[in-house]
Amino acid sequence: MHLLSFALLMILTISIMWMQLKTQLLSKYGYPFENHIVQTKDGYLLTLHRMPHGRQNISYSGRPAVLLVHGLLSQSTDFVNGGPEKSISYLLADRGYDVWLLNCRGNTHSRRHISLDPDVDKEKFWDFSWHEMGIYDLPNTIDYILNITNQDALFYIGHSQGTTTFFVMASLLPKYNGKIRHMSALAPTALFSNNMDIKYRTLVNYRNELQLAFLFFNIHEFLGHMDLYLNLVKKFCLKGMVTSCLCEALYVLGVGYSPTEFNMTLLPVMVSNSPSGFSVKQVFHYLQLFSNGGLLRPYDHGFLFNWIKYWAPTPPNYNLSNIVAPVTLHYAMKDQLVDRKDAEILAILLPNASKRMVPVENFTHLDFLWGNHVKPLIYDYILNEMEKY
Ligand SMILES: *[C@@H]1O[C@H](CO)[C@@H](O)[C@H](O)[C@H]1NC(C)=O
Ligand SMILES: *[C@@H]1O[C@H](CO)[C@@H](O)[C@H](O)[C@H]1NC(C)=O
Ligand SMILES: *[C@@H]1O[C@H](CO)[C@@H](O)[C@H](O)[C@H]1NC(C)=O
Ligand SMILES: *[C@@H]1O[C@H](CO)[C@@H](O)[C@H](O)[C@H]1NC(C)=O
Ligand SMILES: *[C@@H]1O[C@H](CO)[C@@H](O)[C@H](O)[C@H]1NC(C)=O
Ligand SMILES: *[C@@H]1O[C@H](CO)[C@@H](O)[C@H](O)[C@H]1NC(C)=O
Repeated sequence: MHLLSFALLMILTISIMWMQLKTQLLSKYGYPFENHIVQTKDGYLLTLHRMPHGRQNISYSGRPAVLLVHGLLSQSTDFVNGGPEKSISYLLADRGYDVWLLNCRGNTHSRRHISLDPDVDKEKFWDFSWHEMGIYDLPNTIDYILNITNQDALFYIGHSQGTTTFFVMASLLPKYNGKIRHMSALAPTALFSNNMDIKYRTLVNYRNELQLAFLFFNIHEFLGHMDLYLNLVKKFCLKGMVTSCLCEALYVLGVGYSPTEFNMTLLPVMVSNSPSGFSVKQVFHYLQLFSNGGLLRPYDHGFLFNWIKYWAPTPPNYNLSNIVAPVTLHYAMKDQLVDRKDAEILAILLPNASKRMVPVENFTHLDFLWGNHVKPLIYDYILNEMEKY
């Protein structure tokens, strides 16, 4: 029963969070668009999208680079789906930035490796969590961008898992702090000890059983090929249909619902028929953090294997004191995934962080990307703040 509801919850949350990546989405508004491939040190091939400039001042060349990194279950389109008036990518491009959008390993656009096949060499290809994204995907991408743009440092904006990966990098590879002009963390996802949300706690309680089930069925990738299912969701979720209230209900179940921020019109855009898979390990790594007393640390392989891997009974904590790049944490009062108290504790643990709570009552995890008022509430603040660095 729990497994079933877990699976249902995951599938539905994911489908709603999936979005289509359509090059037209960018070019239809007259913005330029480039595709780049970054090869990581451990052989993954990542797709990096670039919007080198906005609609004006096209010939101007000294644009500061900004890297945007998506959350779990998502992809680069997180940052363009709302269109030029609302999505941060366009706003940045029109403000004179050179905008880069990363797709981390394992998602639809980065499901490639120089020697491993994600469908054949499953066990090896999918043996990663956000830890590997932090120590390979981000630093390799940052170096790639800095080389091409001939700059010393860039701006970073991450949402959800896109903040976790940043903290991993900045803590384990401290020299990369010097390559960051400023980091904006949308829904900073790192500590979970104050998160008492019943559905996450249920998953945490059953995580060993779930993990065994995945092992038993040899499942390493979540929902890589779900075209049929997603087409169904898309049909059901079109605005105006009676069934669209079903979608609304599922959205609420997944990440919470804000009556003032949620916009049904955007749902068909958010839901897509191009699925974005991810590794089972990413989820279990997060679930581990709920019950380890408020620490951010690498994957726990269990007592025995921890000795082999870390030479200790538990994984060594990421040293947050190493994260000296200037960081601004944007968090919300009612984010079901990132508890307000955990975000405030994180702000104290990071040596160079300031915090900013979204100044409205009803704002949830995904509203940082799609909320009706995300531009005036958050993006305008970020755009102004970036000019100081
Ligand atoms: C175009 O660039 C110049 C500096 O090169 C700047 O002063 C001006 O504000 C820019 N205009 C727009 C619309 O970005
Ligand atoms: C930097 O970019 C140039 C091409 O623009 C390329 O030839 C060179 O290999 C790159 N260097 C690194 C370290 O990536
Ligand atoms: C964490 O890093 C700080 C500064 O980089 C250092 O002073 C401290 O000793 C480190 N703590 C641990 C437990 O390694
Ligand atoms: C915080 O970041 C600023 C800007 O990069 C830097 O000048 C300052 O030294 C940093 N502070 C700490 C405590 O690392
Ligand atoms: C926030 O949402 C709750 C219901 O979810 C509603 O009762 C309340 O009025 C909302 N607050 C604001 C300021 O809109
Ligand atoms: C919902 O989104 C559509 C399309 O982006 C927009 O036209 C509409 O104004 C939005 N509704 C609200 C309440 O913001």
